[in-house]
Amino acid sequence: MKSNPQSVKKVRAIKQEVPRAVLFDAYGTLFDVYSVGLLAEQLFPGHGQTLSVLWRDKQIEYTRLVTTSNHGAHYQPFWELTRAALRYAIKRIVGPSQTVDGDGPFASQIDRLMNQYRHLSAFPENRQVLSELKARGIPTGILSNGDAAMLNLAVKSAGLDGLLDNVISVDPIRKYKTDPAAYALGEQATGLAAKQIVFVSSNAWDALAATWYGYQTLWVNRYQLPFEELGTQPTRTSSTLRDVLEFFPIPAP
Ligand code: LAC
Repeated sequence: MKSNPQSVKKVRAIKQEVPRAVLFDAYGTLFDVYSVGLLAEQLFPGHGQTLSVLWRDKQIEYTRLVTTSNHGAHYQPFWELTRAALRYAIKRIVGPSQTVDGDGPFASQIDRLMNQYRHLSAFPENRQVLSELKARGIPTGILSNGDAAMLNLAVKSAGLDGLLDNVISVDPIRKYKTDPAAYALGEQATGLAAKQIVFVSSNAWDALAATWYGYQTLWVNRYQLPFEELGTQPTRTSSTLRDVLEFFPIPAP
């Protein structure tokens, strides 16, 4: 049987609800985790980029490790996991036999990099996109692995306070994304079902898991990477945060 393109279009339109809120991932999506690269390069010449990538990858790996092992018995807040991941990344560069804990020879580098992590650069389009969503009456928030202190400081130092209705941390439930309980926090905070919310992330794994959970999703592919090869695609893909506005067309007058 021949399919009628008009009716296909209609079915799609019915399936996809018009969303009523937006939740953003924080690290990598609103805040540039690789903006530490410059300082890392000053402190470890020739290794800045490697260090920042190793640091980020290990940080995410640790969130998964503590969430999936021994029913969460090894949970540590994101700030602590971030520091542990930095120690690991430094060891990978200077050699595993070096002491990088406590008051060891790298204490001041660790402090400086952690301090920079507290005040990561925000992506330049954030403010305008958040203001435009506000103007369109769309509630916005962050849903992040970061703990509340980190997130509040990052929001403040990026000048985004007042532009976000919710700052949701997974810390109270001690389970990191991609645990479904972490994504459920977005529904609880907004009082909406996941399918009524757009979840925005630059992290492909996060956009994928949020899609699996039931959110409408925007994957902001800032680094021209391939999406995850697991058979599910995000609702939309873009290269900047701006495309989130496409989910909320301004009604014709
Ligand atoms: C976050 C990390 C995963 O903000 O990017 O949740």
